[in-house]
Amino acid sequence: MKFFVDTADIDDIKEMAATGLLDGVTTNPSLIAKSGRDFMEVTREICGLTDGPVSAEVVALDHPTMMKEAEVLRKIADNVCIKVPLTIDGLKTCKALTSDGTMVNVTLCFSANQALLAAKAGATFISPFVGRHDDNGFDGMELIEDIRLIYDNYAFETQILVASIRHATHVLQSAKIGADVATMPPAVIKSLFRHVLTDKGIEGFLADWAKTGQSIL
Ligand code: G3P
Repeated sequence: MKFFVDTADIDDIKEMAATGLLDGVTTNPSLIAKSGRDFMEVTREICGLTDGPVSAEVVALDHPTMMKEAEVLRKIADNVCIKVPLTIDGLKTCKALTSDGTMVNVTLCFSANQALLAAKAGATFISPFVGRHDDNGFDGMELIEDIRLIYDNYAFETQILVASIRHATHVLQSAKIGADVATMPPAVIKSLFRHVLTDKGIEGFLADWAKTGQSIL
């Protein structure tokens, strides 16, 4: 499963990239607003920090204007992935862009039927929002299972990019189901490394090592 970081914070992206485990970045208009940076400028900078896809979202609601915005965004760098909402106009834009070889991430997916439509429109990635689905009384992970089943039934190549991840259990379940990508806030990625018994084990080993009076270097 690929690991994307869901942020427009440059320091966080650099820290994640330094682990060697980062496969891409996703942003959205809320994350750009939170960064306080110019959209084009920060997106260009992010694209230089990873070789993987960097999702940049259009804000128009109609197909012709989405196409114009996508034209501007895709000139930023070769690894820009155009993010469009799961609407009729968004999927028309998805079809047009992917037919032309541009990567597209279809976002704000909340049903398996929506994911089916996105795959038929040739989406590179589909982004089901598991956290927001849970928040509204549904089961986000059941949605991922349904999409995996449908995509496998028809050998769709659209990658399932699990979004709106809130905790490590979402990541574990995504991997067990066979999702292709998990995009996570930096704090969730960091939480995956930690275990209380790892810390306790290191503490015990170092205490015993000190008793030997030896050093490796
Ligand atoms: O980038 C899309 C998604 O990951 C947003 O998550 O936490 O705002 O529901 P959240």
